Amino acid sequence: MNIRRAKIEDLPGMQACNLRNLPENYSMKYFMSPFYPAYLYHCATWPSISYVAEDKGRIVGYILAKMEEEIAEGEPAHGHVTSISVLRSYRRLGIAKKLMLQSQESMATIYRASYVSLHVRKSNRAALSLYRDTLGFEVQDIEQKYYADGEDAYGMRLMLKHD
Ligand code: ACO
Repeated sequence: MNIRRAKIEDLPGMQACNLRNLPENYSMKYFMSPFYPAYLYHCATWPSISYVAEDKGRIVGYILAKMEEEIAEGEPAHGHVTSISVLRSYRRLGIAKKLMLQSQESMATIYRASYVSLHVRKSNRAALSLYRDTLGFEVQDIEQKYYADGEDAYGMRLMLKHD
């Protein structure tokens, strides 16, 4: 298992990590999905904080992250995890934890991020456990109806350590 920086050409492999059923013409769907422009923007702007996990040449997990652009004057720089996912058959092997830690380290050392934030569905027990119990994130607030289907999100935050 190899953790390395995400590259533009990793897009289909990354998308495959969070699609339940790949459609027949999946390569077209990739480029037409809302994920695509977000992905390009993230990789072009902050190329060093998004990572993939690769097993024998196959992308089995990814983290897509960015630095927050809209920060008020005097506010510290901080990173944000836009999306993380691991292929079903590779879960509970510590891959997401490794991806999170790698991205956090790069946010802190390269961009001097003071903290990292993210949103997660209130019902997402696996992700909540990863963030809160394994990594030490704390719930900052609840964003009502954050998701298109009306579900609330926890806004979570973790302070980053600096040497
Ligand atoms: N149930 C309970 N706790 C869990 C679970 C689970 N299903 N999965 C992970 N955890 C917790 C455990 O504490 C685990 O440690 P342990 O295995 O020693 O008990 C710890 O998280 C670390 O788990 P990893 O093995 O690193 O996590 P994994 O590689 O399986 O990936 C993930 C976790 C990303 C949440 C995966 O389940 C997934 O891809 N889910 C679908 C996509 C998703 O929900 N992504 C997060 C959305 S929020 C966002 O993107 C900002």
